Amino acid sequence: MLKELKKRHSPLLFKKKAISKKKLERCLQAAQWTPSCSNMQPWKLVLIEGPRRIAKFAEAFPRGNQWCLKAPMIGFIVSKPKLGCIMEDNSNLEYFQYDCGMVMMSFITQAMAEGLQTRQMAGYYEKKVKKILKIPASYRVIVAFAIGYEEKLKDHKGELHPRLLERIKTTKRTRKPLKEIYSLNKF
Ligand SMILES: Cc1cc2nc3c(=O)[nH]c(=O)nc-3n(C[C@H](O)[C@H](O)[C@H](O)COP(=O)(O)O)c2cc1C
Repeated sequence: MLKELKKRHSPLLFKKKAISKKKLERCLQAAQWTPSCSNMQPWKLVLIEGPRRIAKFAEAFPRGNQWCLKAPMIGFIVSKPKLGCIMEDNSNLEYFQYDCGMVMMSFITQAMAEGLQTRQMAGYYEKKVKKILKIPASYRVIVAFAIGYEEKLKDHKGELHPRLLERIKTTKRTRKPLKEIYSLNKF
């Protein structure tokens, strides 16, 4: 599993190729079987496919995330506090966002197994997304994502914005050392 998990990464370039219904359904089944606090499953994955529908979201993303409009599918995870656990004994700690992170991870892990990659985004304008999708006011848009087949830079035909090109060329995937992310028998 570790070897597989290390293959997951977040591309900035996607092929135009559409995602087959079968692959998408398996990703959604992986999402469906995600654990959640009290099994409340507080998530809804809103998927947008095809260039014409996706283009309508141009105003919903800042300049730095306009790359996502070229993906064959984008999506949003939508939820609200009351759909998940609210732990009264712990100062009303709300679990909806935690559970939504879990569902995203299941979805993108299966996507990776299907030969797809995903890039999540916190950079979007929530109000605009809610307006376009007619999402009721009480809901929150927890994350946006783009999913598709990764395109390698060397295979890309056509112009790329210089800033995007620079980002793709200079991105280094790094992680904190293990000893910084856990402790044993103490805080
Ligand atoms: C919650 C979340 C928000 C993110 N927001 C953005 C974003 O707005 N724009 C972007 O290009 N990448 C975004 N990313 C992608 C991260 O930069 C990326 O996952 C991180 O650098 C680690 O790289 P890797 O996914 O290839 O391992 C986001 C990822 C997560 C999980």
